[in-house]
Amino acid sequence: MMETFAFGRYHHHRFDLKRWIPAFLSSHKTFFTLLWIVGFALVFIWQQNIVDGLLAFRRAPAWPIPKLRPVAFNLTDFGGVGDGVTVNTEAFERAVSAIAKLGKRGGGQLNVQAGYWLTAPFNLTSHMTLFLAANAVILGIQDEKYWPLMPPLPSYGYGREHPGPRYGSLIHGQHLKDVVITGHNGTINGQGQSWWKKYRRKLLKHTRGPLVQIMWSSDILISNITLRDSPFWTLHPYDCKNVTISGVTILAPVFEAPNTDGIDPDSCENMVIEDCYISVGDDGVAIKSGWDQYGIAYGRPSTNILLRNLVIRSMVSAGVSIGSEMSGGVSNVTVENLHVWNSRRAVRIKTSAGRGGYVRHITYRNLTFDNVRVGIVIKTDYNEHPDEGYDPNALPVIKDISFIGIHGQGVRVPVRIHGSEDIPVRNVKFQDMSVGLTYKKKHIFQCAFVQGRVIGTIFPSPCENLDRYDEQERLVKRSISQNITDIDYDF
Ligand SMILES: *[C@@H]1O[C@H](CO)[C@@H](O)[C@H](O)[C@H]1NC(C)=O
Ligand SMILES: *[C@@H]1O[C@H](CO)[C@@H](O)[C@H](O)[C@H]1NC(C)=O
Ligand SMILES: *[C@@H]1O[C@H](CO)[C@@H](O)[C@H](O)[C@H]1NC(C)=O
Ligand SMILES: *[C@@H]1O[C@H](CO)[C@@H](O)[C@H](O)[C@H]1NC(C)=O
Ligand SMILES: *[C@@H]1O[C@H](CO)[C@@H](O)[C@H](O)[C@H]1NC(C)=O
Ligand SMILES: *[C@@H]1O[C@H](CO)[C@@H](O)[C@H](O)[C@H]1NC(C)=O
Ligand SMILES: *[C@@H]1O[C@H](CO)[C@@H](O)[C@H](O)[C@H]1NC(C)=O
Ligand SMILES: *[C@@H]1O[C@H](CO)[C@@H](O)[C@H](O)[C@H]1NC(C)=O
Repeated sequence: MMETFAFGRYHHHRFDLKRWIPAFLSSHKTFFTLLWIVGFALVFIWQQNIVDGLLAFRRAPAWPIPKLRPVAFNLTDFGGVGDGVTVNTEAFERAVSAIAKLGKRGGGQLNVQAGYWLTAPFNLTSHMTLFLAANAVILGIQDEKYWPLMPPLPSYGYGREHPGPRYGSLIHGQHLKDVVITGHNGTINGQGQSWWKKYRRKLLKHTRGPLVQIMWSSDILISNITLRDSPFWTLHPYDCKNVTISGVTILAPVFEAPNTDGIDPDSCENMVIEDCYISVGDDGVAIKSGWDQYGIAYGRPSTNILLRNLVIRSMVSAGVSIGSEMSGGVSNVTVENLHVWNSRRAVRIKTSAGRGGYVRHITYRNLTFDNVRVGIVIKTDYNEHPDEGYDPNALPVIKDISFIGIHGQGVRVPVRIHGSEDIPVRNVKFQDMSVGLTYKKKHIFQCAFVQGRVIGTIFPSPCENLDRYDEQERLVKRSISQNITDIDYDF
C-alpha cells in the first residue's frame, strides 16, 4: 500500500486523443450512437458495483485477529464499550494488570475490536501486545484534567513548553521489556485539536502530552497501525534500546497542529524506522538526545539508528531532522530511500552553542525531494534554550556527514549548510546528486564554514568551500577557502 499511496502520482497513462477524436466526430451519427452505448454501459457497471458492494459487505469475512501471545483478551472482557462516549480507562487498566500477571508465561495480548474506545491516559506493561483490529479507534479524552502530570524528562530539565511538570502521554510505559503495539491498521487518535487551540491561546500551564511515549524500555515493536492528531509529539521513545517502528501511518494537519512531530527517537540505541508514511504539523522524524546542560549531564546519545523507505510531508519543519536537542550526542544514523514531498525542508541538522554533544557518522542515501523549498539544511544557530543556565561555550561538533544519491525536482534551495566560526561543519561528502530547481539562480548551493568534498559531477554545482574529486576519488581541485559565507535566508 505504501507504494500506491506514495508513488501512484507518477503513473501517467497517455492517450493520443488528438488523433482519434476527429475521425469519430466527422460523423454525428456515429458519435451519438457511441454516446448512448457508453452511457448505458456506465449505468450498468454502476448498478453491478452496488450489488457487488452489498454482497461483499454481507460476505465480508471478519479479518481474524492473530493470536500472538499464549493468552489473549478482548477489551470487552474488562467492561470496555466501544461507543465513542463511554470512558474506558478502567477497562484498559484492568486488562493491563491481568496481562502483567502473565509475564513469566510469555505475556498477554489485548485485542481492541472495531469501534471507538474513548480513554484517558493509561500505562502498558511488559510482555504485552496491544492489537488494534481494522476500524478500531482508541480516542484520547480531550479534557486535560484526566491527563496525569509527570516530572520533566531528566535530559530536558523542563517540560519543554513550560517549566515544571508535563502531561504524560495517552499511551505510556516506563521500564518495560518486550512490548508490541500492532494491528490491522487500527488507529490511536489523540484528538489533538482542543490541545492545539489551547496551546495557541496560551491557556495551558503545562507541556502537552505525547500520543505514545515509552521510556527506559527495550525490545519494543510498533507496527501496522495509524497514529493521528497527537496533542504534541506523536511517538516518543525515550532512552530505549532495540526499538522497531514499521508500517506505521502518522497523520496530523500540516498546518496549525503545533509540535506534532511524527517520531522522536530520543537518547535511543539500536532502532529501525521503516515503511512509514508520515504527514504532520512539525518534523516527520526528529532524532534527539536532550537539551543543553540537562542533556549534557544526562549524557545518553541516540545511536545506531536506521531509517528506510519513508514517505514524509512536513510543511512547517522538515522531513527528517536531527536536533535541535542533541546534547547527549547523535551518531551512526543512516537515512535511506526517503521521499519528501510538498514540504518546507527535506532533511535538517539543527543545533546551537550551548548544546555541546555531537552529530557525527550520519549517512543519507537515496533521497528524493519532490517540491520542497530547501533540500538539505545544517543550521548551527538554533538558539532555543531551556533557561539561562546553559553554557555558551558548550559547542557541538558536527562532522562526518555523507549525502549519496540525492535526486528530485521542484527544489528552491538544494543545500544550505550554515556552519560558523565556532561550530564549523567538517568532513561532509556529496556524491551522485541531481536536483531539479524551481528556478535558476546563483547562490543556491549555500555554504559557510564547511569543509568536505564532492565526488564526481553533481547538480547544481557545489559551493567553493568543498574540495572536488573525480569519480575515481582522485583530487581534482582543492577548495580556496572553507570559510566562504554565502547564505541567503530570504531566498
Ligand atoms: C473476542 O471477541 C471475538 C469476537 O467478538 C470472539 O470471536 C473471540 O472469541 C473473543 N476472544 C476472547 C479471547 O474473548
Ligand atoms: C503509570 O506509570 C507511571 C510511571 O511509572 C506511574 O507514575 C503512574 O502511577 C502509572 N499510572 C497508573 C494508573 O498506574
Ligand atoms: C492505514 O490507515 C491509514 C489512515 O486511514 C491509511 O492512510 C493507510 O493507507 C492505511 N494503511 C493500509 C496498509 O491500509
Ligand atoms: C529486539 O526486540 C525484538 C522484539 O521486538 C526481539 O525479538 C529481538 O530478539 C530483540 N533483539 C535483541 C538483540 O535483543
Ligand atoms: C504488517 O502487515 C503486513 C501485511 O499487511 C505483514 O506482512 C507484516 O508481517 C506486518 N508486520 C508486522 C511487524 O506485524
Ligand atoms: C551502526 O548502526 C547500524 C544499524 O543501523 C549497525 O548495524 C552498525 O553495527 C552500527 N555501527 C557501529 C560502528 O556501531
Ligand atoms: C530509492 O528510494 C525510492 C523510494 O524513495 C525507491 O523507490 C527506490 O527503489 C530506491 N532506489 C534504490 C536504488 O534503492
Ligand atoms: C576558517 O575557520 C576556522 C574556524 O572555523 C579557522 O580555524 C581557520 O583558520 C579559518 N581559515 C581561514 C583561511 O580563514
